[in-house]
Amino acid sequence: MKITVIGLGYLGATHAIAMAELGHDVIGIEANPQRLSDLQNGKVPFYEPGLPEALVSVLAKGNIVFKADHDSESLEADLHFLCVGTPQLPGSYAANTEYLHSAVQALAPYLREDAVVAGKSTVPVGTSAELALALQAATGNRPHLVWNPEFLREGTALEDSLRPDRIVIGVNDEHSETVMRKVYESITDLGTPFIVTDIPTAELVKVAANSFLATKISFINAMAEIAEVSGADAVQLAQAIGYDERIGNKFLRNGIGFGGGCLPKDIRAFMARADELGVGSAVDFLADIDAINLRRRSRVVDLVTQELGDLTGKKVTVLGAAFKPDSDDLRDSPAIAVAQLLQAAGANVVVHDPISLDQVNLNYPALATEQDLMVAATDADALVLATEWREYREADPAVLAAVVANALIIDGRNALAVERWQNAGWRLIALGRNVEASI
Ligand code: UGA
Repeated sequence: MKITVIGLGYLGATHAIAMAELGHDVIGIEANPQRLSDLQNGKVPFYEPGLPEALVSVLAKGNIVFKADHDSESLEADLHFLCVGTPQLPGSYAANTEYLHSAVQALAPYLREDAVVAGKSTVPVGTSAELALALQAATGNRPHLVWNPEFLREGTALEDSLRPDRIVIGVNDEHSETVMRKVYESITDLGTPFIVTDIPTAELVKVAANSFLATKISFINAMAEIAEVSGADAVQLAQAIGYDERIGNKFLRNGIGFGGGCLPKDIRAFMARADELGVGSAVDFLADIDAINLRRRSRVVDLVTQELGDLTGKKVTVLGAAFKPDSDDLRDSPAIAVAQLLQAAGANVVVHDPISLDQVNLNYPALATEQDLMVAATDADALVLATEWREYREADPAVLAAVVANALIIDGRNALAVERWQNAGWRLIALGRNVEASI
């Protein structure tokens, strides 16, 4: 099929490349000149394992082109995917949908009457209806607008796009459903569930899923708070409850909590939209989910202070900056928040990360960075593991112990092999656990 993908950020670039991999003829539209030229030159503008190789391959096959704007070729497309961002509005919890509105205005002159428009961005429920009205006003025709939420995770984005655990489509008409079934045929042929709903349900599925995931993480972090004062172990607790299939063991890792461009923004936008709809109290609990999440960040500062006393002038090395491993995304990163809180408490903070330090230097110039792990750790009074990169999990604690001033590490992700570190002479404090009691 001939398709356009509008907006080539994380979601759009991955989706465009995945569609080209499936053999579709893809036109990617991106307004940001730097991002556009990167993609045209075969460079993925963010870190995502496997995606650069896939981009080079689809470019070589001629399955994809990248442009700044639509042109007459867009008129040939049977399907247009809307993938622009819906960031949090400054000074508010609500999502900003203005980029979606500009995307449909720019598309309208190039939209064939039978072409389908599929929204993939995460939106407040009701957005699609507004966009349909705008498209109808701009084209004079009733648009074939569908909502098709995306569930990819950073770090496994291409795999999640090509082999999703489900495809959800919100539709109003049969023609749109046929087109959407066709574009995903090679995926659904493998047995992937294809769920057809009304449009508001499809819009809600995405925010409901992310709210549930955020709730799971904050639930176990709340248990960690209780464990810390009662001598219990939140990691063993998660394991024990996770064997119950109704609970499941995934997304129950306690630590410094969730971050990134999706979970924090999505739960806030959901609260804002529910308020607008007059049912704010239905999701009031999400405010607690957010608060529990943010409390875990300050807990790390409390622990370091408890161990070292006044932090003024103490060197604290924060291991990790990205919001999770295998990503260079710093948006709402708990690691960055912890580094900033430690700095605000007077510590002399040095941030290390295997791949995202350029981004840290650019976006957080007040934070000192060091790209060599050993140099970063030298003379440190404490290390704080904030992102569970493999480099840290596999680091030799004895080698690190030899260079630090004080062998204290706070494991903010419960990622380290406790005994290995303790045997190398470290005092290890793991969030939600009383690991010293076990030795
Ligand atoms: C999340 C969802 O998992 C995807 O399904 C969704 O498509 C995506 O948002 C989106 O809305 O676009 P992502 O933001 O890539 O994906 O990251 P996750 O893997 O969900 O991790 C989010 C945060 O939760 C990370 O900071 C991670 O460290 C933290 N986390 C995750 C925990 O603290 N504990 C866990 O047990 C799991």
